[in-house]
Amino acid sequence: MAIERTFSIIKPDAVAKNVIGEIVSRFEKNGLRVVASKMMQLSKEQAEGFYAEHKERPFFNDLVKFMTSGPIVAQVLEGENAVMKNRDLMGATNPKEAAAGTIRADFAVSIDENAVHGSDAAESAAKEIAYFFSADELCDRIR
Ligand code: TYD
Ligand code: MG
Repeated sequence: MAIERTFSIIKPDAVAKNVIGEIVSRFEKNGLRVVASKMMQLSKEQAEGFYAEHKERPFFNDLVKFMTSGPIVAQVLEGENAVMKNRDLMGATNPKEAAAGTIRADFAVSIDENAVHGSDAAESAAKEIAYFFSADELCDRIR
């Protein structure tokens, strides 16, 4: 399996709970390396653009409100099978359905405030990374 990259967001609820380090620690313990990281306050336009694929869904406005309600941590993670590995570590979208020991099972309480975002495929990962980071912000850690 080749090394790949995925995009992660630690969402406002998890930042407010002060569990940034605990979440990053799970990535690191499972073979993912942080190759870019920034804390930021999303504007309404940034959140709407990021979640544009969901703009017709009934939860879209609440999702944008939530994602702009406080700072987030945007990160690029790198490792073997990074996209699927991150999705496995995150757990199901609805924390009530998330497997025990996953990030969402342990840190999220509801489907609309579910602690983390992770790209769902290599193509979306590339798009999402480019949405938040310029090429010179990605560090090369494999040397
Ligand atoms: P989605 O891409 O389906 O989930 P995931 O984050 O696991 O890839 O949805 C994006 C976000 O939209 C999700 O993390 C939380 C929010 N959302 C809701 O608030 N209600 C819902 O019913 C769904 C499906 C998603
Ligand atoms: Mg998704």
